[in-house]
Amino acid sequence: MDEKQFEEPIVDNVKQIIENIRTLGFKDKIFEHSALTFEEQNERGKPKKYLEAAIALFSAMSGKTIVEIGCMRQPMNHPVSEMRQCCNDGHSTYFWCMTGAQVFSVDIDFKAVRIARKSVREFKNGKVLWGDGLRFLKKFKNKIDLLFLDAWDVLPGCQYAENHLLAYLAAKDKLSDRNIIVIDDTDIGNGGKGRLLLPVLKAEGYDILVSGRQTIALKSKPS
Ligand SMILES: C[S@@+](CC[C@H](N)C(=O)[O-])C[C@H]1O[C@@H](n2cnc3c(N)ncnc32)[C@H](O)[C@@H]1O
Repeated sequence: MDEKQFEEPIVDNVKQIIENIRTLGFKDKIFEHSALTFEEQNERGKPKKYLEAAIALFSAMSGKTIVEIGCMRQPMNHPVSEMRQCCNDGHSTYFWCMTGAQVFSVDIDFKAVRIARKSVREFKNGKVLWGDGLRFLKKFKNKIDLLFLDAWDVLPGCQYAENHLLAYLAAKDKLSDRNIIVIDDTDIGNGGKGRLLLPVLKAEGYDILVSGRQTIALKSKPS
């Protein structure tokens, strides 16, 4: 997105998509704890509706580049329209690749990289890279229109909240003037992966459109 587009007012279809996104999390249960039981995992809101909504917004804003930290680790071996147990993780890389935009997905676990590469092999616009997300973001040279943060798991002893904040800070100077940030697992453990990042995004002028299983934040005005 260039400067000129940034000066244009938010058009009606974008406004409508934004209003729809604001209602997405209404039915999602929020858990204060993070060690969920199998039953609680099943009760959670699922990523699909958030991914699809973020894609609708990204497309309406003529986004070009998506970067994700933490690729899909469950193969997509069923129709996208169906919901199965594996969909609790998200299959995010597959959804991003379906947009036709330029997609960079980074994961530190080669097993996950292999699964994601195989799952998105039909798409020519997706690159799944093996490496550390923070290091990747620091070196990345292009502009990012949508940043998806879904790496360090919400587990005891893992600095997930700190690292997701650091990932945003590493990406900050590459984010387009108008950009979307999506964070997974914000419905558990007092904000989960977004616990430290969400207050920073608010302070920096992001509009938190929804915060349930996932958070979708939109920056549409200059700081
Ligand atoms: C919850 S999974 C991602 C799920 C995926 N986004 C989806 O929707 O299906 C988290 C992933 O983050 C990866 N990860 C953990 N630390 C990382 C790091 N420092 N850099 C990149 N990826 C990392 C893990 O290997 C794991 O595959």
